[in-house]
Amino acid sequence: MQIIKLIDDDDEKINFISSLKINFYMKRICFALLILFSVNIFAQKFEGLALTPPMGWNSWNTFQTKISEKLVMETADMMVASGMKDAGYTYINIDDCWHGDRDENGFIHPDSKRFPSGMKALSDYIHSKGLKLGMYSDAGSQTCGGRPGSRGYEFQDAKTYADWGVDYVKYDWCNTESLKAEGAYKTFAAALKKAGRPIVLSICEWGDNKPWDWGKDVGHLWRTTGDIYNCFDCVKDHGSWKAFGTMQILDKQEGLRKFAGPGHWNDPDMLEIGNGALSPNEDRAHFSMWCMLAAPLIAGNDLRNMTEETKKVLTNKEIIAINQDRLGIQALKYKDDGEFEIWFKPLENGDWAVAFLNRDKTAKNFEFDWKSNTFTDNEVSKKMFDANLQNYKIMNLWTNKESGSTKKTLKSSVPSKDILILRLVKTK
Ligand code: GLA
Repeated sequence: MQIIKLIDDDDEKINFISSLKINFYMKRICFALLILFSVNIFAQKFEGLALTPPMGWNSWNTFQTKISEKLVMETADMMVASGMKDAGYTYINIDDCWHGDRDENGFIHPDSKRFPSGMKALSDYIHSKGLKLGMYSDAGSQTCGGRPGSRGYEFQDAKTYADWGVDYVKYDWCNTESLKAEGAYKTFAAALKKAGRPIVLSICEWGDNKPWDWGKDVGHLWRTTGDIYNCFDCVKDHGSWKAFGTMQILDKQEGLRKFAGPGHWNDPDMLEIGNGALSPNEDRAHFSMWCMLAAPLIAGNDLRNMTEETKKVLTNKEIIAINQDRLGIQALKYKDDGEFEIWFKPLENGDWAVAFLNRDKTAKNFEFDWKSNTFTDNEVSKKMFDANLQNYKIMNLWTNKESGSTKKTLKSSVPSKDILILRLVKTK
């Protein structure tokens, strides 16, 4: 196995086997075994990508099947013009239903009516803006929207995407029948690796097969739940499947923080900010919590018609800095009093982010004595919070104002379905 591990190229494998002093049939058997094992052994992702949670935009939450190259180009333009690119958003991700048909040689083509210039031209356009292109496919025979899936075409599709200049692939899990998730995603990771272009792999099997247990070496992020639904606190029953509001998704992250880190993130699904159903305070709470969770920040709104309020939420650099903190540690829930939760996220240089989330229908007045709330994050970072030993300056991240220090008890109020999010900056 050690020898096999060292050989990454088919020609080299053949040379290696030919050099063995064994008969012809044995050589053939050895070669077959080598190929068989190497699918799994080499099913490793591209390293060095998504070292902080990926940031970008995706077409699905607002546009579903109604996508076109015009929409994608206008979105890329707006990503730059709105300041989102400057705030760190990079990927323009086309979700389901971009597909046309496969040709007689099995190559997939985009829908020629809606993407008349082809994907290479679109990716050139996106790259010319300093952005990156994301595509969508599915491990099964068809995508969730009934378009051609990649099953049986994994290596060909990965090569096609690489040739188009794709930088990110979301790989879905509809119509997969008897496929095993871990193996299917490893096959596609191997296909991307073989195609040779560094491409982020977003595993999207809704947390059904515990991707946090095996996803770290396969992809760069994995969905932890079913689809997000555009509400703060509700469940949408679609009959055979359910979609979840932001608070339901938040609750489903329980126990997962230890699996996330640079290059491999829990993905609680794309953002619903600016999509009309959430009030401004709910948008703030949703965004702040996704930042605390070190979640990928993939906007799902129409960037061409964004209100100033939405833009302010999506481009809040101080809160994005919490998300993009290079330690890459997901927040821990420190206290849960039913509708009021307190979360801590360890940051670089000994700072902490702290969020007071009020899920209730009424405002919450509270006091928090920093000095009597000491703890160590034994589960993940091993960092200790002790305001008796270390004083911190408090920055309110929505007002961007300093508000005292941890020497004094915090007395504050959080409106209904809103959040107070602070950065505790270590003082000398
Ligand atoms: C699944 C995914 C969604 C979206 C749709 C597209 O439901 O979870 O995020 O990609 O498919 O059909």
